[in-house]
Amino acid sequence: MKPGHSETIQAQFDAQAQAYLQSAVHAAGPDLRHARELVAACAMKGELLDAGCGAGHLSFTLAPLAARVTALDPSPNMLATVAEAAVQRGYAHLRTVQAQSESMPFNDGHFDIVASRYSAHHWRDLPAALKEMRRVLKPGGRMLMIDIEGCEDALVDTHLQTMEVLRDRSHVRDRSPSEWERLLLQAGFTDIEHRSWPTRLEFNSWVERMRTSGERVAMLRTLQREAPEEIRKALAIESDGSFTATTGLWWARA
Ligand SMILES: C[S@@+](CC[C@H](N)C(=O)[O-])C[C@H]1O[C@@H](n2cnc3c(N)ncnc32)[C@H](O)[C@@H]1O
Repeated sequence: MKPGHSETIQAQFDAQAQAYLQSAVHAAGPDLRHARELVAACAMKGELLDAGCGAGHLSFTLAPLAARVTALDPSPNMLATVAEAAVQRGYAHLRTVQAQSESMPFNDGHFDIVASRYSAHHWRDLPAALKEMRRVLKPGGRMLMIDIEGCEDALVDTHLQTMEVLRDRSHVRDRSPSEWERLLLQAGFTDIEHRSWPTRLEFNSWVERMRTSGERVAMLRTLQREAPEEIRKALAIESDGSFTATTGLWWARA
């Protein structure tokens, strides 16, 4: 039998924990600045959850603003990397929890802020995960979601999602802004704010980070080479395969 989605996630991310800790795209970016500003403006200093923490860049950015940080991820190696880096940075108030966002081992209303960055496009059941995020938030608590956006234009979106899944077989879906709005409302979030900006993905590091096979890189090259002009323009595909996607940030209230 072939491995299921959860096994694929673990295989993909367990092997790449150090690569994510070192990744320039993940260690920096305007999203971390936005996240810091939004959370600081709440002036809560409360319980903060980072769902799909990966190597912990969002957790580390927000740790000085929280009384306690819970870094959650299904990948044991990612969690070990986060725990070690937290010690090095002196964040004794950071704990790690192995779980998936769709089913979180926390009581209702435990957190003041639930955040997630560049992880939701891997989640098998995003509607269930958003309901969990709302469940574990205190009433009035804040949800911060950051992820690569899908495109409203179906032609462009099909190419973007195909590139994503060729590069990483654990990809599920980049949601478009209208999908996010609908899913957040369905999960019961209110006061939804959205902002977005372009994010350039440098081809070689993008595929290396996921250890994309040579066969898949060749398929990506063919897909890009044969893409119609609308795709090349919308995704700003460059001669070396680098391209520009959109990062979206959602800030909402439980
Ligand atoms: C790109 S990394 C996250 C990067 C990280 N949040 C940061 O700020 O740098 C994606 C992470 O999502 C995790 N993940 C995959 N499926 C998940 C799920 N269902 N629930 C929570 N995390 C999940 C993966 O194990 C991986 O560590």
